[in-house]
Amino acid sequence: IKVLSVASEAVPLVKTGGLADVVGALPGALAPHGVETTTLLPGYPSVVSALNRPRAVHAWDSLLGTPARLLSGTLEGGHPLLVLDAPALFAREGAPYTDAAGRDWADNWQRFAALGRAAADIAGGALVKRGKQQSFDLVHAHDWQAALAPAYLRYAPYGATRTPSVITIHNMAFQGWSGPEVFPQLSLPAEAWALDGVEYHGGVGMLKAGLASANAITTVSPTYAREIRSATFGMGLEGVIVERGNSVHGILNGIDAKVWDPAGDLSLAARYSHRSLDKRRANKRALEAEFGLDAGDGPLFIVVTRLTWQKGMDVLPEVIDHLVGIGGRLALLGSGDATIERDLFKAAARHPGRIGIRVGYDESLSHRMQAGGDAIIIPSRFEPCGLTQLYGLAYGCLPVVARTGGLADTVIDANPAALAAGCATGVQFDGVSYHALAAALTRTVALYSQQDVWVRLQKNAMKCDFSWKASGRAYADLYAALIA
Ligand code: ADP
Ligand code: GLC
Repeated sequence: IKVLSVASEAVPLVKTGGLADVVGALPGALAPHGVETTTLLPGYPSVVSALNRPRAVHAWDSLLGTPARLLSGTLEGGHPLLVLDAPALFAREGAPYTDAAGRDWADNWQRFAALGRAAADIAGGALVKRGKQQSFDLVHAHDWQAALAPAYLRYAPYGATRTPSVITIHNMAFQGWSGPEVFPQLSLPAEAWALDGVEYHGGVGMLKAGLASANAITTVSPTYAREIRSATFGMGLEGVIVERGNSVHGILNGIDAKVWDPAGDLSLAARYSHRSLDKRRANKRALEAEFGLDAGDGPLFIVVTRLTWQKGMDVLPEVIDHLVGIGGRLALLGSGDATIERDLFKAAARHPGRIGIRVGYDESLSHRMQAGGDAIIIPSRFEPCGLTQLYGLAYGCLPVVARTGGLADTVIDANPAALAAGCATGVQFDGVSYHALAAALTRTVALYSQQDVWVRLQKNAMKCDFSWKASGRAYADLYAALIA
């Protein structure tokens, strides 16, 4: 099966969040199941400059109004990569979706409509190699940035057969909405302006268009697949999700065991496995030193996250006094909302030597934190899958999580029944509030004080299999069913 995977991010080339981890891992996860994945990415400067002797394999005089070409390269592991080189759209300083001041690029609709259109053209046979049209059996689009690909495939049939498509929702909160003036510039037929097409609240909804047009919808955990049928989690698109019924599937993300393996992780002070947990202590000492924290008997909590409302980070500053009061310490790495950042620093100032905060994005530090921390706090209001709890499980840094989305699906709460059955791996709590989070931290400290119980939990966690094995097969089976 030949699949064209279309996304706005993929490790190691460009990343703002978990989407990049997943898109980067999919080709390797699918290969054992007979799927050859070609990944299509926008030609941001970081992506184009990473190409090794790029070859132009196609050119558009005008792709929705701008000249563009397609460069071919490879992702890690040798998987094929196509890069949409359209300098007018992508060759600019700043982040993938925002300028240096953090404002969304005003022409994001055009940048990502072009990505979708390019994907449909490619699947429709635009690429010719040695006189032969390169064909794809299926297009897999990720999030709103790629979501027009299924719409273009649906409305601009390339030849007689329509290439089937899948769209994966990594986050329903980002939907890519623009005013109605954009519609005529998309080169879609008039019939696409419809309730079951691209129209959404009087404008163009890119994610909506993808959800309405793709042959199947997936999201990144079974619980989130259920949650987005409700208004709270569906964020306006719950009706579309309910309408699509059995075409909506929840497939849990995996983690890349080559990147996240405490026994082989070169960024750690000491490497370890569930058989040599005592070696973890060196990582904890190193982390305390790195964050300027005093030694202590209680657990060292960590947080690695975008500082946003989704992640419940507005509640964390309020809970810091409690966390310290029960004997905890905290090392936090994050960036995002300036108000949250300010509140965190204010709370930290009350507890010198107990709270350490690093603002920024630091991949290697995030590894050292998972290896040195005792527990990772993830109080998300919604979490389609979440990867940091999976990294925490793999590293024996026990997740303390809100019971939602992928967090609910991957962490087993240390309640009396699970403790008795010997399968618990962390702590869950209901609803994101001061009281719920404070109570969960108190429970965590109590568990930590019984070291034999804690070590049992760590071993359970580290033995969990969150590799891509099962999910790679689930995607491959879905592709096969759609192609048939
Ligand atoms: P989301 O994609 O919603 O941010 P995920 O948990 O799926 O949440 O993925 C977040 C990814 O980004 C993980 O790989 C996590 O380790 C990483 N990450 C988040 N914030 C930071 C940071 N400040 N520094 C380093 N890595 C980070
Ligand atoms: C999104 C979600 C996160 C998920 C990631 C990868 O960023 O917020 O929960 O893990 O995508 O699918």
